[in-house]
Amino acid sequence: MKKHVVLYKSLSPALLAQLEAATEVTYIEDPKSPEGQARLLQALPSAHGLLGASLRVGDELLALAPQLEVVASVSVGVDKYDLAAFKRRGVTLTHTPNVLTDTTADTGFALLMATARRVVELAAKVRAGQWKESVGPSEFGTDVHHKTLGIVGMGRIGQALAQRGHFGFDMPVLYHTHSAKPEVDARFGARHCSLDELLRESDFVCLTVPLTAATEGLIGARELGLMKPGAILVNIARGPVLDEAALIDALRGGRLRGAGLDVFSQEPVAPDSPLLTMANVVPTPHIGSATHETREAMAACAVENLLAGLRGEVPPDRVVL
Ligand code: DGY
Repeated sequence: MKKHVVLYKSLSPALLAQLEAATEVTYIEDPKSPEGQARLLQALPSAHGLLGASLRVGDELLALAPQLEVVASVSVGVDKYDLAAFKRRGVTLTHTPNVLTDTTADTGFALLMATARRVVELAAKVRAGQWKESVGPSEFGTDVHHKTLGIVGMGRIGQALAQRGHFGFDMPVLYHTHSAKPEVDARFGARHCSLDELLRESDFVCLTVPLTAATEGLIGARELGLMKPGAILVNIARGPVLDEAALIDALRGGRLRGAGLDVFSQEPVAPDSPLLTMANVVPTPHIGSATHETREAMAACAVENLLAGLRGEVPPDRVVL
């Protein structure tokens, strides 16, 4: 008998066919809607696998799914999952690293460039028919090339950012992570340093750490106060890594030149967030990996992980078990 999979992410026809060939699939378009919740409650007791990205999974949900073997997340970040609960229950969790590294680093650089060169703000002016004469100093941006790039976290995405900064823009690269990575230093001429030193010396600070108990609130008022006057902050990690209220104060106080934010403490961001009224903030709706090619590759990776786990094999991208 085929195993039962609850799918809560739409898949391309080819991937859906691959999944349906091997398993019995229940598709729930929006598991957070009242209708989706009801269908989820109905499906979980017989589910052997879950595939999607939008659900928080911890003890409560796991208790409703006594047959569950594998959860395949269509994301690299696993902050929505209670890893200890997975271990207790003996359920495998997989994610989708590697396939989104370059795309997410591209997003980071897009935010960095857009904020430095005021692309969104000035494009809005052109659209509004307010381009009457050549721009003057009040609309000038700041250079990116040859400025110091500070990367907080030096995993795959941090390294892809370092590559872009070093080779593409001749930027000296500083990074902060647990311990120095000599191969990173050699490849990108990068220098490992303390967080405080990075904040003091960088023109651009880019956050790439995963959200964990240790990184929640990592950048608060004290840290923002250490940043160079006129520096730019880019967050492509997770909203709670940054104290948003402190960022709003730092931007209001004029210490920072601007911020490029792909992630927020609450997503979708509240429409009345002061961040959305600031011309020097470039907000994007968590699009780190959101390209056709990358989202398809992530979904393919998740399907492969799920099917491997359900066959009793060790999935290629296992996070737990
Ligand atoms: C990830 O994969 O974790 C990205 O942030 C998209 O959610």
